[in-house]
Amino acid sequence: MTTPRNLTQLQLMKEKGEKITCVTAYDASFAAQAVAAGVNILLVGDSLGMVVQGQDSTLPVTLDDMIYHSKMVRRGAPNALIMMDLPFMTYATPETTLKNAGKLMREGMGTMVKVEGGEWLLPSIQMLTERGIPVCGHLGLTPQSVHQLGGYRVQGRSEIDAQRILNDALALEKAGVSLLVLECVPSDLAKRITNALKIPTIGIGAGVDCDGQVLVLYDMLGITMGKTPSFSKNFLIGQDSIKSALQNFVETVKNKTFPDLEHSFN
Ligand code: KIV
Repeated sequence: MTTPRNLTQLQLMKEKGEKITCVTAYDASFAAQAVAAGVNILLVGDSLGMVVQGQDSTLPVTLDDMIYHSKMVRRGAPNALIMMDLPFMTYATPETTLKNAGKLMREGMGTMVKVEGGEWLLPSIQMLTERGIPVCGHLGLTPQSVHQLGGYRVQGRSEIDAQRILNDALALEKAGVSLLVLECVPSDLAKRITNALKIPTIGIGAGVDCDGQVLVLYDMLGITMGKTPSFSKNFLIGQDSIKSALQNFVETVKNKTFPDLEHSFN
């Protein structure tokens, strides 16, 4: 399939067993490189707080930051499917969610928004999808809750936690999300969730059985300051350009050789 332009095409990719690729993008030039390399979705992630702004978490990122970066990504990738994170505390109630998601869609010009969390989000998700804003969920390690979670660690290791994440995933799908990011969960759990859902799952540290994979661009190019997560990989090694590093990522996801066991959790 050529690069999907809409969510129906992503859904078809799941149905055909064709892996979906996604990387974060924060500006026009990198966005254009990712599209030229065949990446299917660009995520304007609030990870920009850490990798672009040098903050120690995603919490300081504002709605204006997200609008600023999303606009640049849209200019570099006029036809791409662009997902934009709603930042910390901009979707704490259904009313604020609607107001802030509406502003991000109108001014940031992406295709959809992403929100982190489970059951408590159901009314907000329904509110957005009923009013025409597509939503991606995000479960497992949700970085905006890093203080509540006690650090950046694997989620869903116990059966009770695994069951809660699976129940949340089913509830998010019922409420209308079109995609679900699963971050830092054991591969078996990600597989269970992927098989239970009709919508595509996009994994990051969640094993090879998700319907697609996402990585933070700066991690996969080896330019993140400090420690890179163990599930990520430097795709620039052995390549002579950023575009070929991105193509390498796309190929290895499509042929299911990434993530391997070394970049997954049991
Ligand atoms: O902000 C981000 O980059 C993300 C990815 C880690 C999925 O949400």
